[in-house]
Amino acid sequence: MRIILLGAPGCGKGTQAQRLTDRFHIPKLTTGDMLRSAVRAGSALGREAEQFMNSGALVPDAVMIGLIRERLTEKDCAAGFLLDGFPRTVAQAEALDVTCRAVRQTIDNVLEFEVPESEILQRLTGRLVCDKCGAGYHAVTQPPQIAGKCDRCDGNVVRRADDSDTTVRKRLNVYREATEPMIAYYAGLGVVRKVNAVGTVDEVFERLCSLIDRN
Ligand code: AP5
Repeated sequence: MRIILLGAPGCGKGTQAQRLTDRFHIPKLTTGDMLRSAVRAGSALGREAEQFMNSGALVPDAVMIGLIRERLTEKDCAAGFLLDGFPRTVAQAEALDVTCRAVRQTIDNVLEFEVPESEILQRLTGRLVCDKCGAGYHAVTQPPQIAGKCDRCDGNVVRRADDSDTTVRKRLNVYREATEPMIAYYAGLGVVRKVNAVGTVDEVFERLCSLIDRN
């Protein structure tokens, strides 16, 4: 099973990616998490990516394509994978096609989350994450049991650097300009299925599961 989750920043891809990977036992390739780990580790990739991420811009295609190409050739991806946050441009989608052909894999599920912008703004400006394990929270709808402390580990629950009002608006603009044309690319191939991603996390999860082809 090879799945791509598409949709605007804050539409709930990361939340559902975790559930889908638990349900279907396929690795989750969340490019935002991969980059944030690299930033925390202070690696060359992290140093290069950080300035783009904090300003709400995309990390250059060449960097992202190299990262995913390498990851997809790892053994655990042979039986399937879930992509969350990649591709984000037409160039990334085209490079993914080439990589999939090289490893003899076909993407079988391209799922586009639909959420109105007003709800996205509420979700992102209230989002909190654990700085250690990455667990997600929301200040209003899903706060941690003890303010500022993760329920699952001893990490601190913080706001992401790119979730400020200004940066969220920039990310939404980048989405419209660079990522919507990529969705049109997949739509042209007739493979995109739209998912209503408004409702509880459980409701959205059930909708996704009912759409997924289990090859
Ligand atoms: P990334 O981390 O991928 O950010 P994003 O796409 O902007 O997505 P988000 O993580 O913001 O949102 P999400 O859809 O996962 O929503 P979530 O589940 O957290 O990328 C960050 C940066 O890295 C980019 O800006 C770029 O610089 C760089 N980057 C990454 N990939 C790249 C690429 N391929 N090319 C170039 N650059 C790249 O949910 C959001 C909130 O809503 C949470 O609080 C959650 O609790 C809540 N929520 C979730 N579901 C629901 C629901 N059903 N109802 C109510 N609340 C909900």
